[in-house]
Amino acid sequence: MTSLTDRLSQITGAAFAALELPPALGAVAVSNRPDLSQFQCNGAMAAAKLARKPPREIAQAVADRLAADPIFAEVSLAGPGFLNLTVTDAWLAAHVDALTSDPRLGVPDLGHGATVVLDYGGPNIAKPMHVGHLRASIIGDSLRRLFGFAGYRTIGDVHLGDWGLPMGMLISELAIRHPDWPYFDPAATSFPAQSPVEMDDLEQLYPEAAAACRDDVARLEAARTATAELQAGRPGYRALWQHFFDVSVAGMRRDFSALGVSFDLWNGEACVHDLIAPMIEALRRDRVAEIDQGAEIVRVAEDGDKSDIPPLILVKSDGAVMYGTTDLATIVDRVQRFDPALSLYVVDQRQHLHFEQVFRAARKAGLAGSGVLEHIGFGTVNGPDGKPFKTRAGGVMRLGELIRMATEAAAERIAEAGLAEEMDAEERAQVARQVGIAAVKFADLANHRMSNYVFDLDRFTRFEGRTGPYLQYAAVRIRSLLRKAAERGLEPGAVEPATEIDRDLMLLLGRLPDAVAAAVDKRAPNELADFAHQLSQEFNRFYANCHILSETDPGLRASRLALAALTHDQIVHVLDLLGIEVPERM
Ligand code: ARG
Repeated sequence: MTSLTDRLSQITGAAFAALELPPALGAVAVSNRPDLSQFQCNGAMAAAKLARKPPREIAQAVADRLAADPIFAEVSLAGPGFLNLTVTDAWLAAHVDALTSDPRLGVPDLGHGATVVLDYGGPNIAKPMHVGHLRASIIGDSLRRLFGFAGYRTIGDVHLGDWGLPMGMLISELAIRHPDWPYFDPAATSFPAQSPVEMDDLEQLYPEAAAACRDDVARLEAARTATAELQAGRPGYRALWQHFFDVSVAGMRRDFSALGVSFDLWNGEACVHDLIAPMIEALRRDRVAEIDQGAEIVRVAEDGDKSDIPPLILVKSDGAVMYGTTDLATIVDRVQRFDPALSLYVVDQRQHLHFEQVFRAARKAGLAGSGVLEHIGFGTVNGPDGKPFKTRAGGVMRLGELIRMATEAAAERIAEAGLAEEMDAEERAQVARQVGIAAVKFADLANHRMSNYVFDLDRFTRFEGRTGPYLQYAAVRIRSLLRKAAERGLEPGAVEPATEIDRDLMLLLGRLPDAVAAAVDKRAPNELADFAHQLSQEFNRFYANCHILSETDPGLRASRLALAALTHDQIVHVLDLLGIEVPERM
């Protein structure tokens, strides 16, 4: 199946084609004058230029053809050559009836199994995650769900930061504090299985090590040396690094699972280390890489650049590889393993130049195969002061802490609203978690990803307005209506647009595929958030103005129950694409 506008575009496109005009001119959109018609097509204007005829003449010829088609209740011209289209109730009803039995809710297969790699999350080993990683996780996970639903084969990779200078800082800091540990004995070959440090230790150690390196060049030098030795494979350092990795990843898995964000791959920068030397070898041979002041670089500036695009540094003069080097090698790895048609990097917009350099280098060296590489940037999360969000203490907000705060705020709101009162403590806590996470995710995804927003749990957790909890509540309320109907033995049935309000809801239910297609095209989950919100508002109008359970006409009652059920299913499904769960009841 597909959307109402897609079906109408096909029909209108055929009418243009019959006049020997490109069928694409028949694109139909929802009318921007719903008082005049349900749909419109503006293709006659462009057709006029091609055919060198007045637009009204072409519009009239198309209209004459369409008028012969029984699906239209009305076809008329307006202005210089706009086509206004309104379909018959019977055709609309048949479309919506088909939707109710389609598990895909009318959404066609857009991807046909093409592989998309999504790189999101990107937290760093031994450092607490910050709100930038939160956004990358929420947006990336939603895009993975969206592309999967749209028919793509998706591979989500967390791409941990685990191979840079911070690793050397930690190692050299520990070497000072515990010189007796076997990891620092160059002759040692076997090491304890148990990690000598826990996540809390690392989180404390890292800022101290970083501060020491800032204040003291000798310490910085030691950290650089340790990084280079780690990368070169010194056994004690590799063993220690593995502990850092394991304890960090255990905590991350816990936090991400609490947030409802998942990954297919828990790879990091270090994973591709062995690919780096042969890659650089090939780049040298092909003269893509060159030596510049002791460093190995790839020049990526192109004619027509509006700003200066500096070269990508592959290897620094001290022999260490860089962030861009591991990103380049990761492209090689992904092409070998998955040959993706598309790779989406969901990372803070402030890294845009980095990705521009990496992608250019990859294209210059022919490393990306036929795949397209795209940076999916996003804006910052600010505090009430308009500056990047910090905790009250001024530090970075940990993910676990953030989930706890959101859950608390949600629990308060739920109590305030008198919801979940008859539940036991366990179910109520579960609902508070689901509402808290919905609040945070929806607030993030409801904005276009490039815009910045203010983190305000008070506003996010409200049950009114454009919020996640509002949508969850809308779905739960419809569910309870349907439950009541079932208890009375009332079944959904064939739909009928008995009133303007029934018809408007039906027209909107036919638009889900458009929202999905727009979200895929723009890589923008806010298209879905907008749709879900619009649908729940339209349903409110329907609920407030139409009898449902109390409708005495059995056919109309069955129609309205079917519309309620379809609305419920669409809201729940769209929320799922946003990574939001709907509680069983509230
Ligand atoms: N670890 C990086 C950071 O914290 C983000 C990684 C993004 N992904 C990538 N392929 N570079 O900034």
